[in-house]
Amino acid sequence: MAERPRFAILGSGRGSNAAVLMDCFLRGDFAAELAVVLCNVANAPILNEARRRGISAIVVEERGGSRADQEQRLADALSSYEVEHLLLAGYMRLLSPSFVERFAGVILNIHPSLLPDFPGMTAVADQWHAGVKVTGATVHIVDAGVDAGPVLLTGSLVVSGDEGVEGLAKRILTEVEHVIYPRAVQLLLHRLARKKPLHQEAARAVRPHQAESLRQAESVHE
Ligand code: GRF
Repeated sequence: MAERPRFAILGSGRGSNAAVLMDCFLRGDFAAELAVVLCNVANAPILNEARRRGISAIVVEERGGSRADQEQRLADALSSYEVEHLLLAGYMRLLSPSFVERFAGVILNIHPSLLPDFPGMTAVADQWHAGVKVTGATVHIVDAGVDAGPVLLTGSLVVSGDEGVEGLAKRILTEVEHVIYPRAVQLLLHRLARKKPLHQEAARAVRPHQAESLRQAESVHE
């Protein structure tokens, strides 16, 4: 039997997306192994989320502010755990072009907007203040840009007029992100099983109304 793909989750903070993904791995929802959770912030809640589930969690901090050194230690940890795929889940540090190149096409990220609209750290507040009527979240393949790279899956929701930035952020997180990230991992695994690595595919921009049909098409055409 072929070996199952090995994943790491990389985050910096709360770890709610990471927790959802960890539970999927533990339940056996994915034909894949979660090897380790990596975090660049000491004592971040994501570490406990992993450890209380019995998953290895290690801190790879930026000592003295050198990103190159930190990324080398990150790459060393990934290779010691024999990880091939990386799931960013609230990793609040831009990965350098050389790191992204080293792991080209195998890093996924989730972002709380319908990319390419509203990239960046303040995406939810920016959308609220811009008065957007429909928003959501995007899982995309990471390239060297900020919240850029081919879109794998999106999910959308209608903004309610009185929920405010906090309410909107909470709904995007729980109603969209926690639902689409596991589905995006399934989609990635599905493509890997068909020996179609993501970096060899053209970017497929999936708009909200297309997301479900893509999912169906993926299952029908296998
Ligand atoms: C999420 O909103 C995610 O889209 C963004 O950072 C946040 C992380 O939240 N990249 P959590 O740590 O998964 O709870």
